[in-house]
Amino acid sequence: MTATNNIAFSPERMAEVQAIIKRYPEGRQKSAILPILHMAQHDFGGWLSQDVMDHVADLLDIKPIEVYEVATFYTMFHLRPVGKKVLEVCRTGPCMLVGSDNIVQYLEKKLEIKDGDTTPDGMFTIKTVECLGACGYAPMMQVGEKYHEFLTPEKLDRLLDEFRKDA
Ligand code: FES
Repeated sequence: MTATNNIAFSPERMAEVQAIIKRYPEGRQKSAILPILHMAQHDFGGWLSQDVMDHVADLLDIKPIEVYEVATFYTMFHLRPVGKKVLEVCRTGPCMLVGSDNIVQYLEKKLEIKDGDTTPDGMFTIKTVECLGACGYAPMMQVGEKYHEFLTPEKLDRLLDEFRKDA
Protein backbone atom coordinates (compact mmCIF):
# COMPACT_ATOMS: atom_id res chain seq x y z
CA MET A 1 0.00 0.00 0.00
CA THR A 2 1.20 3.50 -0.80
CA ALA A 3 1.49 5.80 2.20
CA THR A 4 2.59 9.41 2.43
CA ASN A 5 3.55 10.81 5.84
CA ASN A 6 1.46 8.16 7.59
CA ILE A 7 -1.59 8.98 5.45
CA ALA A 8 -3.07 5.84 3.92
CA PHE A 9 -6.50 4.65 2.90
CA SER A 10 -7.80 1.55 4.65
CA PRO A 11 -7.40 -1.71 2.70
CA GLU A 12 -11.15 -1.71 1.93
CA ARG A 13 -10.98 1.86 0.67
CA MET A 14 -7.85 1.10 -1.34
CA ALA A 15 -9.79 -1.62 -3.16
CA GLU A 16 -12.43 1.00 -4.10
CA VAL A 17 -9.73 3.46 -5.16
CA GLN A 18 -8.05 0.86 -7.36
CA ALA A 19 -11.38 -0.11 -8.92
CA ILE A 20 -12.00 3.53 -9.87
CA ILE A 21 -8.50 3.94 -11.29
CA LYS A 22 -9.00 0.79 -13.40
CA ARG A 23 -11.99 2.41 -15.14
CA TYR A 24 -9.56 4.55 -17.13
CA PRO A 25 -7.03 3.57 -19.78
CA GLU A 26 -3.37 3.11 -18.89
CA GLY A 27 -1.73 6.50 -18.48
CA ARG A 28 -5.06 8.27 -17.93
CA GLN A 29 -5.39 7.45 -14.24
CA LYS A 30 -5.56 11.16 -13.44
CA SER A 31 -9.18 11.03 -14.62
CA ALA A 32 -10.01 9.32 -11.31
CA ILE A 33 -8.94 12.36 -9.31
CA LEU A 34 -12.36 13.78 -8.37
CA PRO A 35 -13.92 10.68 -6.80
CA ILE A 36 -10.66 9.87 -5.04
CA LEU A 37 -10.38 13.38 -3.61
CA HIS A 38 -13.97 13.06 -2.35
CA MET A 39 -13.06 9.77 -0.66
CA ALA A 40 -9.91 11.32 0.80
CA GLN A 41 -11.81 14.28 2.19
CA HIS A 42 -14.38 11.95 3.71
CA ASP A 43 -11.85 9.53 5.20
CA PHE A 44 -9.20 11.96 6.45
CA GLY A 45 -11.07 14.36 8.69
CA GLY A 46 -13.33 16.27 6.31
CA TRP A 47 -10.63 18.32 4.62
CA LEU A 48 -7.61 17.90 2.35
CA SER A 49 -4.28 18.59 3.99
CA GLN A 50 -1.15 18.78 1.87
CA ASP A 51 -0.15 15.31 3.09
CA VAL A 52 -3.51 13.90 2.00
CA MET A 53 -3.24 15.55 -1.42
CA ASP A 54 0.31 14.22 -1.77
CA HIS A 55 -0.99 10.74 -0.99
CA VAL A 56 -3.59 11.08 -3.74
CA ALA A 57 -0.85 12.23 -6.13
CA ASP A 58 1.18 9.12 -5.24
CA LEU A 59 -1.79 6.86 -5.85
CA LEU A 60 -2.48 8.40 -9.24
CA ASP A 61 1.22 8.60 -10.12
CA ILE A 62 0.96 12.30 -10.92
CA LYS A 63 2.72 15.42 -9.61
CA PRO A 64 1.37 16.90 -6.35
CA ILE A 65 0.76 20.22 -8.13
CA GLU A 66 -1.77 18.46 -10.38
CA VAL A 67 -3.77 17.50 -7.30
CA TYR A 68 -3.45 20.97 -5.71
CA GLU A 69 -4.74 22.55 -8.93
CA VAL A 70 -7.93 20.49 -8.82
CA ALA A 71 -8.45 20.73 -5.06
CA THR A 72 -8.09 24.52 -5.07
CA PHE A 73 -10.40 24.96 -8.07
CA TYR A 74 -13.49 23.21 -6.71
CA THR A 75 -15.11 24.75 -3.64
CA MET A 76 -16.46 21.37 -2.49
CA PHE A 77 -12.96 20.55 -1.37
CA HIS A 78 -11.89 22.08 1.92
CA LEU A 79 -8.27 23.05 2.32
CA ARG A 80 -8.39 23.60 6.05
CA PRO A 81 -10.32 21.98 8.89
CA VAL A 82 -14.06 22.69 8.86
CA GLY A 83 -16.93 22.43 11.32
CA LYS A 84 -19.46 19.61 11.55
CA LYS A 85 -21.78 21.60 9.30
CA VAL A 86 -20.34 23.58 6.41
CA LEU A 87 -22.78 26.29 5.33
CA GLU A 88 -21.94 26.69 1.65
CA VAL A 89 -23.75 29.83 0.60
CA CYS A 90 -23.95 30.57 -3.13
CA ARG A 91 -22.60 34.04 -3.94
CA THR A 92 -22.94 34.01 -7.73
CA GLY A 93 -24.99 36.64 -9.64
CA PRO A 94 -28.55 35.26 -9.51
CA CYS A 95 -28.27 34.48 -5.79
CA MET A 96 -26.59 37.84 -5.15
CA LEU A 97 -29.43 39.67 -6.92
CA VAL A 98 -31.92 38.32 -4.40
CA GLY A 99 -29.84 38.89 -1.28
CA SER A 100 -27.13 36.26 -0.81
CA ASP A 101 -24.92 39.04 0.61
CA ASN A 102 -27.51 39.62 3.32
CA ILE A 103 -27.65 35.90 4.04
CA VAL A 104 -23.87 35.73 4.50
CA GLN A 105 -23.89 38.85 6.69
CA TYR A 106 -26.70 37.43 8.79
CA LEU A 107 -24.79 34.18 9.33
CA GLU A 108 -21.56 36.04 10.12
CA LYS A 109 -23.33 38.18 12.73
CA LYS A 110 -25.30 35.33 14.25
CA LEU A 111 -22.36 32.89 14.44
CA GLU A 112 -19.78 35.63 15.20
CA ILE A 113 -17.38 34.39 12.53
CA LYS A 114 -16.37 35.57 9.07
CA ASP A 115 -16.77 33.84 5.73
CA GLY A 116 -14.26 30.97 5.64
CA ASP A 117 -14.07 30.61 9.41
CA THR A 118 -15.34 28.00 11.85
CA THR A 119 -17.13 28.61 15.14
CA PRO A 120 -14.95 27.96 18.22
CA ASP A 121 -17.15 24.97 19.16
CA GLY A 122 -16.33 23.34 15.81
CA MET A 123 -20.00 23.28 14.83
CA PHE A 124 -20.31 25.60 11.82
CA THR A 125 -18.13 26.83 8.97
CA ILE A 126 -19.35 29.56 6.63
CA LYS A 127 -18.08 29.14 3.09
CA THR A 128 -19.23 31.20 0.12
CA VAL A 129 -19.22 29.23 -3.11
CA GLU A 130 -20.02 29.67 -6.78
CA CYS A 131 -23.29 28.71 -8.50
CA LEU A 132 -24.70 25.42 -7.24
CA GLY A 133 -27.17 25.10 -10.09
CA ALA A 134 -30.25 26.04 -8.08
CA CYS A 135 -30.53 29.65 -9.27
CA GLY A 136 -34.33 29.42 -9.51
CA TYR A 137 -34.52 28.83 -5.76
CA ALA A 138 -32.19 31.65 -4.72
CA PRO A 139 -30.83 32.62 -2.32
CA MET A 140 -29.68 29.18 -1.38
CA MET A 141 -26.97 27.19 0.37
CA GLN A 142 -25.77 23.61 0.46
CA VAL A 143 -25.15 21.83 3.76
CA GLY A 144 -23.79 18.31 3.37
CA GLU A 145 -25.79 16.70 0.60
CA LYS A 146 -28.85 18.90 0.99
CA TYR A 147 -29.87 22.17 -0.63
CA HIS A 148 -31.72 24.80 1.42
CA GLU A 149 -33.52 27.30 -0.75
CA PHE A 150 -35.35 30.65 -0.64
CA LEU A 151 -33.31 31.52 2.44
CA THR A 152 -34.45 34.22 4.86
CA PRO A 153 -33.12 35.11 8.32
CA GLU A 154 -36.09 33.29 9.89
CA LYS A 155 -35.42 30.18 7.84
CA LEU A 156 -31.73 30.33 8.76
CA ASP A 157 -32.62 30.52 12.47
CA ARG A 158 -34.73 27.39 12.12
CA LEU A 159 -32.08 25.56 10.12
CA LEU A 160 -29.26 26.42 12.54
CA ASP A 161 -31.36 25.06 15.41
CA GLU A 162 -32.02 21.86 13.47
CA PHE A 163 -28.34 21.45 12.59
CA ARG A 164 -27.37 21.83 16.24
CA LYS A 165 -29.92 19.16 17.24
CA ASP A 166 -28.64 16.85 14.50
CA ALA A 167 -25.01 17.10 15.57
S1 FES B 1 -26.42 31.55 -8.73
FE1 FES B 1 -26.83 30.63 -6.83
S2 FES B 1 -27.41 28.61 -7.37
FE2 FES B 1 -26.94 29.54 -9.25
